[in-house]
Amino acid sequence: MPEAVAFGYDRKQEVKQFDDTKAGVKGLVDSGITKIPRIFLHSHEDLPKSSDHGDNPSSIKIPIIDLKDIVHDGLRREAVVAEIREASASWGFFQLVGHGIPTAVLDEMIEATRSFHEQGAEEKAKIYTRDPQKKVRYSSNFDLYQSKAANWRDTVGFIFDGSLDPDDIPMVLREATMEYKKHILGVGETVCILLSEALGLRPDYLRGMNCGKNHTLIAHYYPPCPEPKLTLGTARHTDPTFLTILSQDGLGGLQVLHHGRWVDVSPLHGALVVNIGDLLQLVSNDKFKSVEHRVLALPNGPRISVAMFLNPSSDEQKLYGPIKELLSDENPPLYREFLVKDYIVYYFSNGLTGSALSHFKV
Ligand code: OGA
Ligand code: NI
Repeated sequence: MPEAVAFGYDRKQEVKQFDDTKAGVKGLVDSGITKIPRIFLHSHEDLPKSSDHGDNPSSIKIPIIDLKDIVHDGLRREAVVAEIREASASWGFFQLVGHGIPTAVLDEMIEATRSFHEQGAEEKAKIYTRDPQKKVRYSSNFDLYQSKAANWRDTVGFIFDGSLDPDDIPMVLREATMEYKKHILGVGETVCILLSEALGLRPDYLRGMNCGKNHTLIAHYYPPCPEPKLTLGTARHTDPTFLTILSQDGLGGLQVLHHGRWVDVSPLHGALVVNIGDLLQLVSNDKFKSVEHRVLALPNGPRISVAMFLNPSSDEQKLYGPIKELLSDENPPLYREFLVKDYIVYYFSNGLTGSALSHFKV
């Protein structure tokens, strides 16, 4: 069916018009719109239901894990490894506290993200791009041309693959980003050690697999939405990563699907939200779960969040598949082996919706 018929309007043209402004959702809001353009309308079944809000029994909460003292206190460490194992298997998500990153470093990254998105449109337009080769990119909706409905957010991102020159990072963000990155990667290493132990593997096992070699930092800006019930900040998805470490401001809106119910990831100042990505689910042979999550559009805002994606590098020549040590007659491999490059190509051909995992099932 031609797209114009499927949507009842020429969606491609309206998407392109929006993209050509290079001003993102923030540009729409600044222009004073009171109704959202139809490219942002999500279908009824994808939108939050009124029963999704406010009815989470207080007992249902994302696990909060405290890393304090794990280096010196062996018993505490064992307990924390068990907590991480349980959270990764049942929730795919946890909040980390006691990670040692000064709260000011997290706050400054959120504020720098705000400054970037709130500077003049011309300044931002200079780095507006969908070119996958570019290591510094700002755009609205990386999957704008693939998705059925656009999300109410803009994003600036940096791919730290060794070839990015920090001087190419916009000045308003540069210092905060480099500082934030350094700290988050430190926590990332600790978490990879704990995840290895939680799988019953040597502490350096996941690191030895080069699982977290490539670092992509993306800083989201979710402007206030005039019709928040008709769209989403981020549609439901799993992360195409090995591991994601996220810092969010105090507004809320992030939700995780847990046993068929959407549960709020309540903002906790100073905490980091960690979630298992598709690749970790795969190498763990489904021991750990890459769980669907979404961000609601909010009437107030902007909401700001900053995600660090840890991934194998895209030119890694090693084949990835379920870790051999985790397999047995009772636990046969659930996935075939593949190159990271093939995974990425498949993922991006598919857009944000729908996990890429099933494509690699045996
Ligand atoms: C993501 C994501 C959540 C947020 O970037 O993959 O899920 O709170 N972000 O912005
Ligand atoms: Ni995500």
